[in-house]
Amino acid sequence: MPSNDVLVRPAARFGGRVRAPGDKSISHRYAMLAAVADGSSVLHNFAPGADARATVACLRALGVEIRADLPTLTIIGRGPGGLCSPKNPLDAANSGTTARLVAGLLAGLPLTATFIGDASLSRRPMERVAAPLRRMGARVSLDAGHLPMRVEGGSLEGIDYEPAVASAQVKSAVLLAGLHARGRTRVIEPVPTRNHTGLALRLFGAAVELSGGTTAIEGGARLHAVEADVPGDLSSATFWMAAAAGLPGGSVEIEGVGLNPTRTAILDVLRRAGAVVEVAAEQGLREGDEPRGRIVVRHGSHQAFTIAPGEVPGLIDELPALAALATFGGSMSVSGAGELRHKESDRIAALVRGLAALGADVDERTDGFEVCGGRRLHGGTADAAGDHRLAMAFAIAALGAAGPSVIQGADAVDVSYPGFFETLTALSS
Ligand code: S3P
Repeated sequence: MPSNDVLVRPAARFGGRVRAPGDKSISHRYAMLAAVADGSSVLHNFAPGADARATVACLRALGVEIRADLPTLTIIGRGPGGLCSPKNPLDAANSGTTARLVAGLLAGLPLTATFIGDASLSRRPMERVAAPLRRMGARVSLDAGHLPMRVEGGSLEGIDYEPAVASAQVKSAVLLAGLHARGRTRVIEPVPTRNHTGLALRLFGAAVELSGGTTAIEGGARLHAVEADVPGDLSSATFWMAAAAGLPGGSVEIEGVGLNPTRTAILDVLRRAGAVVEVAAEQGLREGDEPRGRIVVRHGSHQAFTIAPGEVPGLIDELPALAALATFGGSMSVSGAGELRHKESDRIAALVRGLAALGADVDERTDGFEVCGGRRLHGGTADAAGDHRLAMAFAIAALGAAGPSVIQGADAVDVSYPGFFETLTALSS
């Protein structure tokens, strides 16, 4: 078997206690803000995956000193004027968050940088961040809407911006540019997305208003260094929750996991899918701190569930795991999720292909998919298509199959969850 393939055997039992790795979205944001803050920030439980490493590498290339004693990072902030133009292109690797958010961070600084990425990132749309950054006054050029993206920063004016797509990355790029812009920058979202950038900006000392779908930042604030503990990644934990919900007798307890309300829609959907879900939030947060706590998920029953278009932005990274859950029984239908086609893979096509290869009854739609959980998977070979969340979703679905499965390209999990398969082995028997 090629070294990047993994064999997953059916499980009779699934359960235990686990801590998810540090949240990827929050880690990117803390590292970027620490880089332009005054003083040394200490970030505990920093995300271990390749995406977060790409952000660290880009910040180092911009002249920021970062000491890694993983999972703790110490970032020596250089203040808003302290970054320098990199000698070489900034390589965002597989990470859309790195390319889009660092572009926003640099747009209002007097430097020039070119972003490149791997084959997957080079296919993903970048005009969505280039357009608002240009409107604010930066010069941004793309190659037919894609990387390489050259950003020539300069003095920016705050704008009011209504993104055409529900995207936390677009919102964040505009807000980070707004940090270095004159006046006020507002992002108005028709459907709210994750608010980690607004919270992080507050934690580091910026004046940010957060209300419903509107986030506003006053430009020109100097950020101060922080010591912060990144909560566990709820999107990574979702794979364990889906396995526990799917397998009769399954149960999992996840400690120290992020409970930001803009990310917890998954918990309601798990309940709709028939799972028993208990949540205990930790108390005593500081201004800007990310909510966190303990989640217990137990198998209850298998129910059919539907994800409506308005729910999709709050669940965008959880849809592959939910599809895996639906293969255990019940069924799932999602629409209004065309954004999935612009992720690390065409996540609708590759998800449907992989689940079908394992024996699922699954239908592709232009803007979503349907899984009929009425028949047990036989097991088979599913190609992760270079996509970390698909590798993990296929592995979870394979636990419920009648026979063994092979996940091709399983090493993609390193993007967000190094050690995923070791934990899978520890939790299943
Ligand atoms: C992310 C936002 C989401 C999500 C991605 C991480 C972020 O992307 O899918 O994994 O950190 O802001 P979009 O905002 O582009 O949908």
